[in-house]
Amino acid sequence: MSILSCPVCHTPLQKQPKSYQCENNHHFDIAKQGYINLLQSNKKRSLDPGDNKNMITARRQFLAQGYYEPISNVLNEILGCKNPELSLKILEVGSGDGYYINRLKEKNHECYGVDISKHAAKIAATKYKNITFVVASAVELPFINHSVDVLISLFSPFYEDSANKVLAKHGLIIQAVPLTHHLFELRQILYKEVNINPAPKNLLTQKEYFNLEETKVLNHSIHLSDQACIQELFRMTPHYWKTSPERQHELSLLQELDLTLEIEFRIYSHANMKS
Ligand SMILES: C[S@@+](CC[C@H](N)C(=O)[O-])C[C@H]1O[C@@H](n2cnc3c(N)ncnc32)[C@H](O)[C@@H]1O
Repeated sequence: MSILSCPVCHTPLQKQPKSYQCENNHHFDIAKQGYINLLQSNKKRSLDPGDNKNMITARRQFLAQGYYEPISNVLNEILGCKNPELSLKILEVGSGDGYYINRLKEKNHECYGVDISKHAAKIAATKYKNITFVVASAVELPFINHSVDVLISLFSPFYEDSANKVLAKHGLIIQAVPLTHHLFELRQILYKEVNINPAPKNLLTQKEYFNLEETKVLNHSIHLSDQACIQELFRMTPHYWKTSPERQHELSLLQELDLTLEIEFRIYSHANMKS
């Protein structure tokens, strides 16, 4: 049974051969690529929200080369340690091209990816057929209350109210955030001055829904050995929009780049849930 809920009346959605339907007869077609769009047009803040096609394509090309596999490995290890045997209902919010959730799916979990970008859902669903990809906003996750065992957020926007609603009582959140030295060498090329102040903590404990259980830092170096993958990395980040033409030109002259990855994984449990 699906754990998706109707974005109109919030009752459970049942999967039909070509659509999802709720008891009040609201229908949502499954696109030919296999994703479903549960983002209602009155909830969109722009015509084409989230990462655009150029960013998503660059992300797919860059991640496919394995440079970020160490990040995916840490995520898989955390989950493996916390729940070694179980088959879990896992939701990645802001799932992009589906790279990380697909590597978790290898463990037989029931996996869902939500992204506000239809380009992301399209490219993810085309490649990863046994994961359910949904166009929806992290602000209003279309899932049955307390149905998600593990909610993952990797470099993506997070909304505590919505996560609190869908996370199971025993649920876990795994969040990955970049630290000060993450992609430092790239930022040195792109900006006159690079901010080396400690990244703001922004813990998900403000509303007291979640307890921070553990943190884990990944420090790793990668070597990009051609201009094409340097450009793919650049195009998949928000730096692409902020960089002057002069600095973009400087970057276009590089044939290799050594880069630091510095990422904090934060593991939260659900607090104050009465059983
Ligand atoms: C930096 S990318 C990270 C993608 C993926 N987690 C990864 O690390 O490869 C952030 C993703 O969040 C999505 N996004 C942005 N705002 C969102 C929102 N309000 N709800 C859901 N997804 C959102 C973007 O479209 C984009 O795919």
